[in-house]
Amino acid sequence: MQTVRTSEELTRALAELRGEGALALVPTLGALHAGHLALVDEAKRRADRVVATIFVNPTQFTDQDDLARYPRQEAEDARELAKAGCDLLWAPAVEDIYPEGFATAVHVSGVADRWEGEARPGHFDGVATVVAKLLLSVRPDVAVFGEKDFQQLAVIRRMVADLGIGVEIAGVPTVRDPDGLALSSRNSQLSQDERGRAVALPTALHAAGKAILGGTPVATALQQAKQSLVDAGFLRIDYVALVDAATLEPLDTLGNPMRLIAAAVIGTTRLIDNIPVETDATPLR
Ligand code: PAJ
Repeated sequence: MQTVRTSEELTRALAELRGEGALALVPTLGALHAGHLALVDEAKRRADRVVATIFVNPTQFTDQDDLARYPRQEAEDARELAKAGCDLLWAPAVEDIYPEGFATAVHVSGVADRWEGEARPGHFDGVATVVAKLLLSVRPDVAVFGEKDFQQLAVIRRMVADLGIGVEIAGVPTVRDPDGLALSSRNSQLSQDERGRAVALPTALHAAGKAILGGTPVATALQQAKQSLVDAGFLRIDYVALVDAATLEPLDTLGNPMRLIAAAVIGTTRLIDNIPVETDATPLR
């Protein structure tokens, strides 16, 4: 697997890869875990060649401390990507993506406004801008994202449709630890005690999903989920909501397709998670 940084190097490497069939893109911030590698697997199923990116995108961090302490381990990540069968790693410097004079931002309204958009103002502008740039630089046939960041996936789908970027967007189900906690590079910030209690987040979502499908009023089920997070020691709950899976608008009665989404803080770490809620009796995942 080759690693490139500048857009000139990228263009040269892509010229070769393009002749070899369909191209898939897997964008990441690095600090890779099995969730990211599941995206590479899906990319390999959908295309002949896979390009991954590692770029800790400063414009999507609303907290400078969070940006500064974001784990960086490119050499280890590159080894994992190569092992997973990735063909090219693009790991640009900040100046390669945002050269002097860079003045453009992509703003998606509606689907980006609530939830993460409200908790982290400007975050989705940073995500949409960098993802647009990555897609337009690589011009893949398909780009693969995780359902772990469900609202991000919806924002990217909206942007790609609105701007006519001409790429298929594929979503991959969340990869979890055996106890149910979604894999996240943030999990390494949890103390052992916090890690033990963090499982309350997926547990609360599953309980709420079952309750809602069983006829419990949505508001009651969401309140119970919040209470169980408080009981588990979460210090702040940003939201627990039942939403329309495409628009992310809150639902107070059943509709399809639906998603339960949540964000809450344990210790100093903010965790997000979500699950599908399916009325057709398919098991929750
Ligand atoms: P990052 O947090 O590194 O995530 C990269 C991709 O991996 C995203 O599509 C994310 O949803 C997916 N992912 C993370 N954890 C996962 C898990 N447990 N199971 C399945 N997929 C998982 O999301 C970003 O980076 C950035 O915002 C980015 C899209 C790269 C733009 O900068």
